[in-house]
Amino acid sequence: MKKYYSLLLILLLAVLISACKETINEVEKPTDYDKADGINGGIRYDKFWSTEADYSKKGDTDILAKLNAKADFFRCKQCHGWDLVGTKGSYVSRGPNANRPNISGMDLVTLAKTKTGQELFDAIKKTAGRRDISFDLTTYDPSTNATEGDKMPNYTQLLTDAEIWDIVKFLKVEALDLTQLYDLTLTGTYPTGRATFSNIGKDGDAPVGKTYFDSKCASCHGADGTQLQMESMTLGKFLRSKANESQHKIKFGQLGSAMTAFKTGLQDMKNLYKAVSDTVAFPN
Ligand code: HEC
Ligand code: HEC
Repeated sequence: MKKYYSLLLILLLAVLISACKETINEVEKPTDYDKADGINGGIRYDKFWSTEADYSKKGDTDILAKLNAKADFFRCKQCHGWDLVGTKGSYVSRGPNANRPNISGMDLVTLAKTKTGQELFDAIKKTAGRRDISFDLTTYDPSTNATEGDKMPNYTQLLTDAEIWDIVKFLKVEALDLTQLYDLTLTGTYPTGRATFSNIGKDGDAPVGKTYFDSKCASCHGADGTQLQMESMTLGKFLRSKANESQHKIKFGQLGSAMTAFKTGLQDMKNLYKAVSDTVAFPN
């Protein structure tokens, strides 16, 4: 009888242990979303075939030729904006021309908040209603033939799942909440509207921001941001007039230049913005 009891006990233990193992495996196994890198995602959002992004199809000369010939028809940022809200944000004035499409009206900030990672992934991977890579973009003319060119590209032809997951992580985690960095005033409607930035840095701490600048930026830009000219602007002028774009470049890098991703968090960015809002410390 005793023998049976100990056998039963052993059996029970075995069942318990295997059950435990299974739940442990379930908890510990990282999902594709967990494994994704949102900083890489931000780089890909800017230009997924940049050197910094280490593009999976970098060896495919046909694809690269197509992307480079009409880059702004493929970069997420071009259709959705640095602020992710397209025509509802700072790209309210960015009309199309032969080399760039119309801006999308999609609000990716709200979408990223309300959709799960999987839903965002599926939305980016969608093929219905998307522009095929074979479409000839040299026929694009905003006044007569814009429909196909304005469509979101079919990214299943361009990105691996892992690359898309990185972008999902960027949208959900790494993209900064720009309402915390400045006030945006919009007048008029796309494409003839106007965007102005005010209250730059909001309640950020300017002295702390200046310390951040001195330690991370001054070596290249100079203590007052006048050492390098960007589109004929000092750093102060650039950041104040392109507050939407600057934060992305600072956090994820100025692709193709010596300036790599600082991965700056929201509070540091706020302090930095506050410091640079001072036109005496950072002149035009
Ligand atoms: C040529 C312009 C263009 C480019 C480039 C582009 N999009 Fe879009 N995107 C659109 C338009 C237009 C829509 C709204 C209509 C639609 O869903 O196709 C949209 C919709 C979306 C949606 C919502 C889709 C849904 O079904 O809910 C997401 C998410 C999105 N884009 C992310 C991205 C990401 C990430 C990239 C870069 C990898 C990107 N887009 C590049 C034009 C573009
Ligand atoms: C290693 C040198 C280096 C460092 C450090 C550096 N930058 Fe830059 N930065 C550059 C270069 C080079 C450019 C590109 C200039 C050009 O467009 O020709 C640039 C461009 C920029 C731009 C403009 C981006 C654009 O779209 O043209 C901003 C804004 C900027 N830097 C801010 C900063 C801030 C803030 C820091 C510190 C957190 C910083 N940089 C640190 C070298 C540097």
